[in-house]
Amino acid sequence: MSQVNVYPPSAEFVERANVSGMEAYKALYKRAAEKPEEFWGELAKEKISWMEPFSHVFEWEPPFAKWFVGGKTNACFNCVDRHVLAGHGEKVALLFEGEPGDTRKVTYSELLADISRFANGLLKLGVKTGDRAIIYMPMIPEAVVAMLACARLGVTHSVVFGGFSSEALKARIQDLGAKLVITADGGWRRGKEIKLKPAVDEALNDCPTVESVVVCARTKGSVEMVHGRDHWWHAVEAGQSENCPAVPLDSEHPLFVLYTSGTTGKPKGILHTTAGYLLQAAMTMEWVFDLKADDIYWCTADIGWVTGHSYIVYGPMSRGATQIIYEGAPDTPGFDRWWKIVAHFKATVFYTSPTAIRALIRQGNQWPEAHDLSSLRLLGSVGEPINPAAWEWYYNVIGKGRCPIVDTWWQTETGTILIAPMPGAVPLKPGSGTLPMPGVMADVVDLDGNSVGANQEGYLIVRRPWPSMVRTIWGDPQRFQDQYWSRLPGNYFTGDAARRDEDGYFWVLGRVDDVLNVSGHRLSTMEVESALVRHPAVAEAAVVGKPHEITGQSVCCFVTLKKGDFDHEALGKELRQWVGHEIGAFARPEEIRFSDALPKTRSGKIMRRLLRELVTNNTVAGDVTTLEDLSVITKLAAQHDDEA
Ligand code: WT7
Repeated sequence: MSQVNVYPPSAEFVERANVSGMEAYKALYKRAAEKPEEFWGELAKEKISWMEPFSHVFEWEPPFAKWFVGGKTNACFNCVDRHVLAGHGEKVALLFEGEPGDTRKVTYSELLADISRFANGLLKLGVKTGDRAIIYMPMIPEAVVAMLACARLGVTHSVVFGGFSSEALKARIQDLGAKLVITADGGWRRGKEIKLKPAVDEALNDCPTVESVVVCARTKGSVEMVHGRDHWWHAVEAGQSENCPAVPLDSEHPLFVLYTSGTTGKPKGILHTTAGYLLQAAMTMEWVFDLKADDIYWCTADIGWVTGHSYIVYGPMSRGATQIIYEGAPDTPGFDRWWKIVAHFKATVFYTSPTAIRALIRQGNQWPEAHDLSSLRLLGSVGEPINPAAWEWYYNVIGKGRCPIVDTWWQTETGTILIAPMPGAVPLKPGSGTLPMPGVMADVVDLDGNSVGANQEGYLIVRRPWPSMVRTIWGDPQRFQDQYWSRLPGNYFTGDAARRDEDGYFWVLGRVDDVLNVSGHRLSTMEVESALVRHPAVAEAAVVGKPHEITGQSVCCFVTLKKGDFDHEALGKELRQWVGHEIGAFARPEEIRFSDALPKTRSGKIMRRLLRELVTNNTVAGDVTTLEDLSVITKLAAQHDDEA
């Protein structure tokens, strides 16, 4: 094995850390492993404000878990009211910067007033506890207000990333049976208005459950409003009282559903509930981000992804953090936009993705070097494995060799970070998420569920439920069981491959299923394939991930066409657009390859493994004995050589 650099925390960092030194980490881990119910029960009492206490900590009827059974609380109350009541109302919650350069500061008191007025306005529209709302918004403070207003009322929210198309939006509204859609005219991205409302209008042609649409005026672009259905945000909150009691909700009340790609064409609605999710989001803020009262925290994710839920809204806000929210692109107007923001607001903690880091590396060191980044004390990474070269750049050029990097492994389903270093305790190894959080019994196993030896590859699993675990797939408990719990009964199957080294450090290697990771965004090959075959010219499609220098993977499609005369170049362009229309711009394939046939087994299954090998190595060396027509592979490879 190649030599790995090890970075222990500095004495200065250890001294101020929430968890100081390896012994402290080990003690926490041991306590949680030996007495999980006491461990989580005590933390839940300490960190969460309860409206009614829970009677017991944990119930487990595999694969369905309940945490803090019988308790009543409210996530919004814990994220806002709690801090105001404790005398921190004047503390800044949000430091907002819009892409055009407009800024806003929102204190916890102001946020409470905004949320309460808006929630009262929603009540007037007839929204009730237990209803579902879709949120389709740009990264502006109102997006946070919308989520927390829903949480306050016990309305289950599902945020749909603004980059999803109206088709994708429609599927999510329908699956959820949403009654309310909260959106905006649009948002700013790379100097352009990205319109959102027209996509909502298009989606709503087929969504009979939706009664109201609330539209926030962000860009002030032209918008069509449907009488009786659509309401401006400012009209909804106008004249409403700043007093709106947070509804006491069961610990297991559905807080949000977030759709993510699975191995079929249909996205899964990942359900998270209230108390367990909130507790683990709060704890990981302390353990992984080492959050302090005076931190200026910045997570660059969009609220449309789980990172935005757990590490912009529920984690930082439940701990009363001050955080930066930025609306736009990192390269607008220049490649130093993020570093300007860090310097301007004196950010102390910065959390982003390896894709973003690699894209910025390519632009050169002059961009970060032009700004004073000395306020930073801790850096984070999420979404995909970070390659050691990108890690070293992040560490040296952004962190100036002073800031630990927390490489955080988790998933939409895990709700919060499961594997990551506690930065004042665990020595870092570039590319490794290091060690599991307390209470997380992660392991690397073979197909029979036996732990594999040091440095052996295997499946990453979790042996026991944890508080922020997905509770079910919305409307499809059978799929929940099949997807995560059937392979190794009683254990949670992550879908990732990993190895543990001689120090027990986890190295996540990537997905073992047909799920792609493009720029840290999950995409299913089947979803893209189904989109492609909906195009009238396409007979068959097979989609695989191709290693990509910046985005980790890119979408590569093999397409066979129906009979006819096609201009391949024009059609290739059209199909890329088509996938953008069917799913969203971020899913647009990098490459479309046309072929007379696709490699299949005798039973007719497309051999994606061979295609993966082909796009990675330009040739196929693996076992092809089950392949029906070997010439297909030869032709696909030759075609690529012609084009190259
Ligand atoms: C998948 C989850 C977690 C929020 C963003 C993505 C990959 C995520 C890491 C990491 C290696 C990582 C895994 C995982 N992944 N973080 N630090 N190192 N791989 O959430 O869309 O649910 O995707 O992203 O493959 O299973 P997601």
